[in-house]
Amino acid sequence: MIINKPPMGWNSWNTFAWSINDQLIRETADVMVSSGLRDAGYEYVVIDDCYALRDRGPDGRIVPDPDKFPHGMKSLADYIHSKGLKFGMYSCAGIMTCAQYPSSFDKEFLDAQTFADWGVDYLKYDFCNFPKTADPRMAYARMSMALKATGRDIVFSACNWGEFEVEKWIRSTGAHLYRSTGDIGERFSAVIDIFQSQDKKIRYSAPGCYNDMDMLIVGMDGIGNVGHPGLCGDTEYKTHFALWCLNGQPLMMGSDLRRLRPEMLSLLTNKDLLRIDQDEECRPPIVTGPPWCNRPCYFKHLSDRQFVLAFFNLEDEEGSSDFRPWDIGFPTTAGFGMSLREVFTGEVKGPINDYISVDLAPHDCSVFIGEWVAM
Ligand code: GLA
Repeated sequence: MIINKPPMGWNSWNTFAWSINDQLIRETADVMVSSGLRDAGYEYVVIDDCYALRDRGPDGRIVPDPDKFPHGMKSLADYIHSKGLKFGMYSCAGIMTCAQYPSSFDKEFLDAQTFADWGVDYLKYDFCNFPKTADPRMAYARMSMALKATGRDIVFSACNWGEFEVEKWIRSTGAHLYRSTGDIGERFSAVIDIFQSQDKKIRYSAPGCYNDMDMLIVGMDGIGNVGHPGLCGDTEYKTHFALWCLNGQPLMMGSDLRRLRPEMLSLLTNKDLLRIDQDEECRPPIVTGPPWCNRPCYFKHLSDRQFVLAFFNLEDEEGSSDFRPWDIGFPTTAGFGMSLREVFTGEVKGPINDYISVDLAPHDCSVFIGEWVAM
């Protein structure tokens, strides 16, 4: 199995945490199909922590909580598969999950087989309650081997929050993506902190094994487990989504999809942003301008000779973000210019071979896909 695009889907944690059940997951799968999200590329339905009983069964296996999942996990997986979607689940490298449920430390091969028997296609693997004396590299390597040993194609999503310089060794464990930050919250400052914290790490992300800056808060509207009412509006969601796509991130939606507003659906299915996110080359963006700038402009190569030019205003006041061609080594006398198309408005610019300044509202962004043309 080759994972050569960052995975896309939905995860239960950001909104629902403990309040998960069979009906919620089935309704979410239904909405992913009826809304067009599945057809836009969102394929994984992932149940996070809190789905199990506190104790393992007599055979040592994890037992789904029968009050929450009365039909068991295999039946739910079958339903999700019947919708043309894939089924994701959660465990943890420690001796208990973060919410104190059974976890896979030293039980990797048994648990991997249980997940495979349930029809799981994706495993998020957390890091809480990990013994101080144990080796994290070995723990992730062991679960990766256990998943492969089942013979089932299961995407392995490591989640050790970026600790132990995970970006430097996780690829060798066989994992397909790795959380590189702590948990997101529904605050613009959290979005920016997470994005900026990856500045020197994003270069390690590449097809086969992707950097993961955590699930999306797009459209949460203040509701749920990590929700903060009033702290994010449409502009903040827009910039959050654009930043995640710029960095070629796994796109795991975290809101209640059953009440997603049309504006948010349109943002999450923006074809140009998804094309940027899923670009098969997965090249890191280059920031232009001074590193301390809070109105940065990013340049990123895409496949097919295209590129991204993205302007951000991370400040609380309006202002302009600027592109200086010399920052990326583009000679203005080359006889070529940039032909640009804005991905939200369709506005066309150029060809242009000079300084570009874009006025932006607080927290807003403007993203162009470009091509080189003779001029
Ligand atoms: C950790 C992870 C979160 C979520 C919770 C579940 O905090 O980072 O993404 O999985 O555990 O308890």
